[in-house]
Amino acid sequence: MKTKALILAAGQGTRMKSNQSKVLHKVFDKALVEYPMLAAKHVGAKDICIIVGYLGEEVKKTLGDAAVYALQEQQLGTGHAVMQAIDFIDDEGEVLILYGDTPLITGETLEKMLSFHRENQNGATVLSAVIEDPTGYGRIVRDEKGGFLKIVEQKDADESEKKIKEINGGMYVFDAALLKYALSKLTNNNVQNEYYLTDTLEILLSKGHRVDAVPADNADDILGVNSRQQLAEVTEIMKRRINSKHMVNGVTLVDPQNTYISSSVIIGKDTIIEPGCMIEGNTKIGEGCIIGYHSKIKNAEIGNNVTIEISVITDSFIDEGTHVGPFAYIRPNSHIGKHIKVGDFVEIKNATIGDGTKISHLTYIGDADVGKNVNFGCGTVVVNYDGEKKYRTTIEDNAFIGCNTNLVSPVIVEEGAYTAAGSTITKTVPKNSLGIARARQENKEEWVTKKRKK
Ligand code: UD1
Ligand code: CA
Repeated sequence: MKTKALILAAGQGTRMKSNQSKVLHKVFDKALVEYPMLAAKHVGAKDICIIVGYLGEEVKKTLGDAAVYALQEQQLGTGHAVMQAIDFIDDEGEVLILYGDTPLITGETLEKMLSFHRENQNGATVLSAVIEDPTGYGRIVRDEKGGFLKIVEQKDADESEKKIKEINGGMYVFDAALLKYALSKLTNNNVQNEYYLTDTLEILLSKGHRVDAVPADNADDILGVNSRQQLAEVTEIMKRRINSKHMVNGVTLVDPQNTYISSSVIIGKDTIIEPGCMIEGNTKIGEGCIIGYHSKIKNAEIGNNVTIEISVITDSFIDEGTHVGPFAYIRPNSHIGKHIKVGDFVEIKNATIGDGTKISHLTYIGDADVGKNVNFGCGTVVVNYDGEKKYRTTIEDNAFIGCNTNLVSPVIVEEGAYTAAGSTITKTVPKNSLGIARARQENKEEWVTKKRKK
């Protein structure tokens, strides 16, 4: 059965007090709207249509062809929003309807709603939640046997309906053809003069179709973001969920309160994450690693038994047994091999570093290929940029780079070669040779004594 997904995101989000579209505000490394998109994909809904309105161009630009878009110019209600995507809805199959501002919805919850819908051969199924304070939400009205009757909005509810604690979470699955039919019958005869999507349920019920509400196991799943406070609350819940998943998997989080790991990160067991770390993107960390406090790691693949201390790593590989930091900066497109030491105040960019190499302190390596077991003295600089172009330098296996060497790219230091401390190397240093490129020292004997006598 083909399942398509519709995501409503035309709202202004006034309470965010932002120049940016509400659904593009982030929880960890992803925009709010990306979470329902991921949940939809989890249940097999590959075709996603996002209904945009206010700041819609920005949403399209950010998400690109991950979705198609329908424009709702005027916000005349949730039902009206769905009508704008009528061409996207097929005459068969299912349509999931989600909100762009509810990032805590999970694939598992949607799966539960979908299987309930299919098993009962429903025309429509809505996700509900039972909450202590239902104020503001639409209420699920049931008959004395518990059968679904309708959803009534807060503003349209009478006193007894207002007491109902089962609320509409705002996520639905419809039989596609029935949804189209019900939309064609919608009116706006209500307190707000809006076309309520929720009224489609009553319409289908009155035509003899099965409609029901299924409560989410976790009421947090339907929490929406309307303000910066709610953005922080949702981030907190997301953090707790992600962190407990890693702890269940055998990862030690020294201070889970202060550890920020985004949803797609994978971490091996017996790895220890110290306080204040931010780990984002498609990062994969091996087993037995120590990720030291205040490290920021994004889109990195880190092997087993790696230690990172208070460092920043982006879009790079770090292989088994390597030590990075404190205070190292590993910039995109670097591949740092096994059992390497990258020490303090070292910056590496777009470079490969061979196994066993030591870059202990105060060094910049940009656009370079470094072999195995190379030793860098303190203060080496690969001079990769002439103000116009960048060039690549090669340092072969077992080379020894003396302290304070400048390697003016492009240049080659061949296998086993040395550079003398303080050299500015501009041409190839041949295999097993010493490159020395600095002024010879001259001593002026008794110069100080004579000066003092004057
Ligand atoms: C809606 C439901 C309510 C439910 C609640 C859950 C209706 C009539 N009511 O109420 O039963 O308990 O969600 O949060 O559906 N949107 C558009 N275009 C519009 C109107 C809304 O795209 O014309 C989008 C908004 O951007 C938002 C979502 O739909 O993402 C919900 O809209 P909102 O106005 O917050 O609906 P509620 O009145 O809260
Ligand atoms: Ca709302």
